[in-house]
Amino acid sequence: MLALSDKRWPAWLDLVQGLTGLLLVLFMWAHLFAVSSILLGKSAMFRVTRFFEGSLFFDTPQPWLVSLVALTIFVLFAVHTVLAIRKMPDGYRQWRAWLVHMRGMRHEETTLWLLQVLTGLVLMFFATAHLLELFIHPANIGPHASSARIADGGWVLGLILLFSVEVHAGIGLYRLIIKWGWFGLGDSVRKRQRLRRVVYGLVTFFLVLGLATQQAYLRIGEEEAVRAGVRYDPTAIEASH
Ligand code: HEM
Repeated sequence: MLALSDKRWPAWLDLVQGLTGLLLVLFMWAHLFAVSSILLGKSAMFRVTRFFEGSLFFDTPQPWLVSLVALTIFVLFAVHTVLAIRKMPDGYRQWRAWLVHMRGMRHEETTLWLLQVLTGLVLMFFATAHLLELFIHPANIGPHASSARIADGGWVLGLILLFSVEVHAGIGLYRLIIKWGWFGLGDSVRKRQRLRRVVYGLVTFFLVLGLATQQAYLRIGEEEAVRAGVRYDPTAIEASH
């Protein structure tokens, strides 16, 4: 057990910050693949929704499982945020000194760090709104319910989240790889350049996937039945054929 006066605390806090960050990056990418199942059609997204409601173990949907995941993600997110805040410049003087330094150096990695701080601040406000909505209304997810939410103005939150989370996750992963020396990928300037290119490619891929996904939800959201509040029901569709 570490005593409060132990000098290793900052290292432990750093480790926890990195670990929670990594878990959040992996969650975000898996989450976007799950959400983008709508690109394969309503029934594909419906099956993914049912999976998260425990279809493997229960006969009837259990939306509380979604609330449980939302709560877990929120705890990870809160721990990660609180630990990250201590690294931010503190007050006007530190910010000014840092910005002057950054402009003078014109160093790509320093600019990326600023971008990460800014997107982190955006996420602090907007990710909480998204998580709270899903925590309170876990049954309100599905091909029609999600499309109705997005078409009803939810696309604004979706866009803000998409850009900030993908940029933040990409830069965060890049910095983790270099900081912990994973696979020797950041060992030289050349290797770092190559790694940055891969990370920019990944971020672009997830942004394009996210935008295509949002278009699909928006299109479905315009359908008459969805606008009238009719929930997606695969049995009703089968019966009508
Ligand atoms: C348990 C946690 C979460 C669940 C169950 C969840 C579920 C969903 C669902 C169902 C959608 C589709 C639209 C809708 O129904 O509103 C969506 C969209 C989105 N979520 Fe989450 N989400 C979770 C956590 C997060 C977190 C922590 C973030 C980022 C900080 C995030 C970022 C996004 C983004 C960017 C979109 C829009 C994707 C697009 O427009 O292509 N989500 N989420």
